[in-house]
Amino acid sequence: MLYEAPRAILRLARGPSQGAKTKALVVFDSVYGNTRLAAEEIARGLSQSGSVEVTIASVGKFDVRKTRDYPIVVLGAPNHLGNASKAMREFLPQLGAGTLLRKRVALFDTCYADQTGVAVRKMEALLREREPNLHFALSGLSVVVESSKGPVRQGDLLKCRQFGVRLATPA
Ligand SMILES: Cc1cc2nc3c(=O)[nH]c(=O)nc-3n(C[C@H](O)[C@H](O)[C@H](O)COP(=O)(O)O)c2cc1C
Repeated sequence: MLYEAPRAILRLARGPSQGAKTKALVVFDSVYGNTRLAAEEIARGLSQSGSVEVTIASVGKFDVRKTRDYPIVVLGAPNHLGNASKAMREFLPQLGAGTLLRKRVALFDTCYADQTGVAVRKMEALLREREPNLHFALSGLSVVVESSKGPVRQGDLLKCRQFGVRLATPA
């Protein structure tokens, strides 16, 4: 894996057949690194098929206008005080109306065990304020952390990988 400084964009699965691959974007926010780990596992799952080229980016360092270039879009944030983190809450409304329509979109969060789905639902609601008919390719994934700084609960990174694999596979 290679981080592309200074934009902190990581491209996975570069190869000779790159031009033919479906482009996927994973945008995450992370304070302590757990959501980043989850994002990286989802990216690995996406690229596992060999037919998807994945770009992974930190929310603060990604030009939101480029989102339109990706047929597959994954957005993930830590749960902060029962909501998605501030950086992600600020990013989502910047997506222009219609940007996510006709894309394979999926959301994930990281949270405590008793808060699964909470931040994902907040992100869904925020996106549907602008795009009421937005369809999600998969139900949102919650990745549980053992404490605020982690680690991720055993087994949950495997779920991230599987999430990415399923997302790479059209229904
Ligand atoms: C300010 C703050 C508030 C938090 N509030 C919640 C919360 O309400 N519910 C919850 O499940 N986790 C909460 N957490 C724990 C975060 O979900 C956890 O730190 C995060 O998933 C770790 O991801 P990261 O390593 O990518 O930052 C909070 C963490 C912080 C720092």
